[in-house]
Amino acid sequence: MAETPITTPIEKVPQHVAMIMDGNGRWALQRGLPRLAGHKAGTENLRRVIRASVEFGVKYLTIYAFSTENWGRPPEEVKGLMYILEDVIDRELNELHKEGVQLRHIGRLERLAPSLQEKVLDAIDVTKNNDRLILNIAFNYGGRDEIVQAIQRMMKDEVPPEKVTDELVSQYLYTAGVPDPDLIIRTSGELRVSNFLIWQAAYSEWYITPTYWPDFDKEEYRRALESYAHRDRRYGKVSSGELQGSNA
Ligand code: FPP
Repeated sequence: MAETPITTPIEKVPQHVAMIMDGNGRWALQRGLPRLAGHKAGTENLRRVIRASVEFGVKYLTIYAFSTENWGRPPEEVKGLMYILEDVIDRELNELHKEGVQLRHIGRLERLAPSLQEKVLDAIDVTKNNDRLILNIAFNYGGRDEIVQAIQRMMKDEVPPEKVTDELVSQYLYTAGVPDPDLIIRTSGELRVSNFLIWQAAYSEWYITPTYWPDFDKEEYRRALESYAHRDRRYGKVSSGELQGSNA
C-alpha cells in the first residue's frame, strides 16, 4: 500500500520517543500464525517506524525489544528473538548507517551469545559518529536492574551519600547523556509500565493505543506525535497564567 504523504508539519516534535512494541503475539494468534511470525511482522514495522522517526525529526528513539523478564518465554521464542536481533543487524546495518542512524544498546549484553555480543558492539562502533537519529535498543533490559546496577556502581565508586542527586543517578544509568523520553508509546492497549525506563519516565507523556505493534503505522505514529504536541507538560507545577493546577 502506498504511504500517505505528510501534509502539515507537526507543531512540537518530541526529542525523545520510547516505544513498548507490544501485541506481536496476539497479532499472530488472530491470524492463526505462530508467535514468531508476529515478531517478524513487528520487525518489518520497526523498520518503517525508524524511517518515519527520521522523517518526523525525532532525535532519540528507544525501543523495548527484549526485557530481563522475557527469558521466561518458551525457549524457541527466546531463540527466535535473539535471531531477529542478529538478522536485523546483518540486514539493516548498512541502510541504517547510510541514513545517519546511530545504534546504541541498553541492558545487559553479557547473557547473549558471544557472537551476538560482538555483532552488537560492532554495529555500535560502525555507527558511533552518526547523529540523525540515536536508536537505543533495549535488549535484555530491565528498569529495576538498571537502577540496581547504578547503585552498585555508585557504591564501588565510593560516592558519598550527600553527593547522590537526581543528576548523578541519571549519569549512572545506561541512558547517561540521553534526555529523558518526552513521549512513550505503548501498543496493544496494556496499561502497564513493564519495567521500562522506570527512572527516566518520571515525567514522560504516554500514548497508549489498542493497535497491535505490527499494525502501528506511520499515520498512527503521526497521530501520537500530534497528541503530544497538544499536551501541557507541567512537571508538577501549574501552567503559566494558571492560578490552580492539578497535582501533576
Ligand atoms: C511484545 O509483544 C514484543 C516483544 C517481547 C518483542 C518485540 C520485538 C520486536 C518488535 C521485533 C524487533 C526486535 C529486535 C530485536 C530489533 P508480545 O509478544 O508480548 O505480544 P502479546 O502480548 O500479544 O503476546
